[in-house]
Amino acid sequence: GAASCALLPAAGALAATPEMKTKRAKPLPLAATRLRPSDYATAVERNRAYLHRLQPDRLLHNFRRYAGLEPKAEIYGGWESDTIAGHTLGHYLTALVLTWQQAGDPEMKRRADYIVDELAEAQAKRGTGYVGALQRKRKDGTVVDGEEIFREVMKGEIKSGGFDLNGSWSPLYTVHKLFAGLLDVHDGWGNARALTVVEGLGGYFERMFAALTPEQVQDVLNCEYGGLNESYAEMYARTGNPRWLKMARLIYDNRVLDPLMKGEDRLANFHANTQVPKLIGLARIHEVTGGDQLRAQAARFFWDRVTQHHSYVIGGNADREYFSEPDTIAQHITEQTCEHCNTYNMLKLTRQLWSWQPEGALFDFYERAHLNHVMSAQDPATGGFTYMTPLMTGVERGFSTVDDDAFWCCVGSGMESHAKHGESIFWEGDDGTFFVNLYIPADARWDARKAAVMLDTRYPFEPVSTLTFNRVKGGRFPVALRIPGWANGKATVTVNGEATTPRIERGYAIVDRRWQSGDAVAITLPLDLRIEATPGDTQTVAVVRGPLVLAADLGPVDQKWDQADPALVGSDLLAAFTPTDAAAAHYATRGIVRPADMSFVPFYRQYQRRSAVYFKTFSDAAWTAEEAAFTAEQARLRDITARSVDVMHLGEMQPERDHNLVSEISYPVTYRGRQGRDARSGGFIEFSMAVRPGPLVLQATYWGSERSRDFDILIDNVKVATQRLDNDRPGKFFDVDYPLPEALTKGKKSVRVRFVPHDRNSAGPVFGVRMYT
Ligand code: AHR
Ligand code: ZN
Repeated sequence: GAASCALLPAAGALAATPEMKTKRAKPLPLAATRLRPSDYATAVERNRAYLHRLQPDRLLHNFRRYAGLEPKAEIYGGWESDTIAGHTLGHYLTALVLTWQQAGDPEMKRRADYIVDELAEAQAKRGTGYVGALQRKRKDGTVVDGEEIFREVMKGEIKSGGFDLNGSWSPLYTVHKLFAGLLDVHDGWGNARALTVVEGLGGYFERMFAALTPEQVQDVLNCEYGGLNESYAEMYARTGNPRWLKMARLIYDNRVLDPLMKGEDRLANFHANTQVPKLIGLARIHEVTGGDQLRAQAARFFWDRVTQHHSYVIGGNADREYFSEPDTIAQHITEQTCEHCNTYNMLKLTRQLWSWQPEGALFDFYERAHLNHVMSAQDPATGGFTYMTPLMTGVERGFSTVDDDAFWCCVGSGMESHAKHGESIFWEGDDGTFFVNLYIPADARWDARKAAVMLDTRYPFEPVSTLTFNRVKGGRFPVALRIPGWANGKATVTVNGEATTPRIERGYAIVDRRWQSGDAVAITLPLDLRIEATPGDTQTVAVVRGPLVLAADLGPVDQKWDQADPALVGSDLLAAFTPTDAAAAHYATRGIVRPADMSFVPFYRQYQRRSAVYFKTFSDAAWTAEEAAFTAEQARLRDITARSVDVMHLGEMQPERDHNLVSEISYPVTYRGRQGRDARSGGFIEFSMAVRPGPLVLQATYWGSERSRDFDILIDNVKVATQRLDNDRPGKFFDVDYPLPEALTKGKKSVRVRFVPHDRNSAGPVFGVRMYT
């Protein structure tokens, strides 16, 4: 049976556990850190107001309802009314704990304890160990309590796709959020009931998996399962119960993890955010078992590949949520880059890897992604969150509004990200080293040395950061200040105002001396401009100052951007930048931007502005030659975009949901990194497309090497075309236009588009459909 959890210490107090063998450093507790005024502190305050505004009883609606208890408030909309319902509550619990720790707001603790009590009541009422809000859509369209699917799975009835398990959207992903939130409440202040609820849930899913053959386990894991393996590893760490470790190891998706264990990057065309948490789980297993080198190496290999070969300059990854071939970022600068959840998860993984072996380069990535991506993803004016941070020139960020019914995944991870800006600044090594990893203004208590430290800085806007020991138990210990890779050889350090020569080791300037109260150590990092090429394409670049990604400012979001992408031309680009407001990192250019010079500003602060981050570069001679072709192609692309009424990316989860896709005998495919969908004989693909008055053209994209495929295209059940694909443009994608009779769209807001294969034939694959005027 389960160990009695009430007798165990809260997990925060790490006793002599196996974990200590794997860790060389740990962060100062968030509760011991207080932010000083900065954009980070502002973000935490905005987020705190948002957390206050959310109503626990609304988030709890389905948890009570499906347990047979009267809900106390109306359900939220958006994803909270979809089959993924309940994912937000888990994030909310974590965000409450973090905000309680970060800002000392007692209401946060009160709410988290209340939610745990409510969950315990719902769990007891159900009596199976299960508690949840997720739903399943039955074949007949009715929506019911999601527990039904787990009972089916237990009987071996498993229908799983990437995001669907028996008619529910990523149910184990949603379950994982609840595990994580409860574990965080337990860790936060030793709420023992939170652990009891988690163990009940843990036992329930243990029974479900125990009923399955290894093949069936893999079928289930074929559907996104978040970081459920990590949660079980964490339960093992909290309780010492080997049952949970066994579960952590069982929840292992062979298809994705085996190659990574062998050091192979086969990430292309895998859904990115589905994968990152699996590696966090492997890393956690390594930690809680006191060493599991294979899993640890897989986690590190994954991190290396993603950060070096699959990430954009702001540290985010994935185009339309999917990884592409390594080093092809320049081909994937689209309106759907950089989902926030992915980076939120990559930062978690980075912290784990760093704690095993402090290494500045890990935090160089952390800083880049935290500053340029995470900070771009919350609008400080409203507290709304982004889902994607688009890097395509001129594309605006879309923010959730505080009272809207979005509740996307990234609203959940967003409310966590902005509750913890103080969590990674200060760390202590097991050898007594005091580390500064991020230069964010803050005060902290460091108990090991009875110290009160203060980090004073305007970095990344100003170069100097000063760490002062306002109080410290005097004595000798090393202080390690991270030197970002780009500052290599150019950082300077002073102690109490006097130049000193620190030891340089693994990306840190280490000052090892006797410290006493009042001592101050300062680091100056040169905030020079750099031009950074994208991995795999030296002609596509971004402008960076220190850790800060700059963007050309293209104006406010309420002004449309329909011009050609700006390009950078010349042999010495950096020489053409002059600061107009150095302290705000604003620059003007002279003579290098085509068609005209622009001002460059910090990208992350472009919340309600349009910007350009990536530029094609040309020498003067090359520009003259390229100009005509370049602008013509840009104009063609802009023109078709501007005339588009609706665009549908087939084979991609979110667009398919948004367009209410239904299909039979139909499969997602990926050709040359592009997602699409086909339908086999007897099946079909059908989805909605928006229309507007006037003549319209439906455009479909096909692969030019497809042979002998015959199918019909219907609009609202009326056939508009028969298409045959027969090696039309070998090795290339091509578009076919279908002008639509106006009578078919007249007076309508949307139509249903249907692709139907002829008998014993296939339709498509279709790689995207556009409705345009
Ligand atoms: O499917 C749940 C979440 O929603 C995914 O992890 C995220 O990428 C998606 O859009
Ligand atoms: Zn997300």
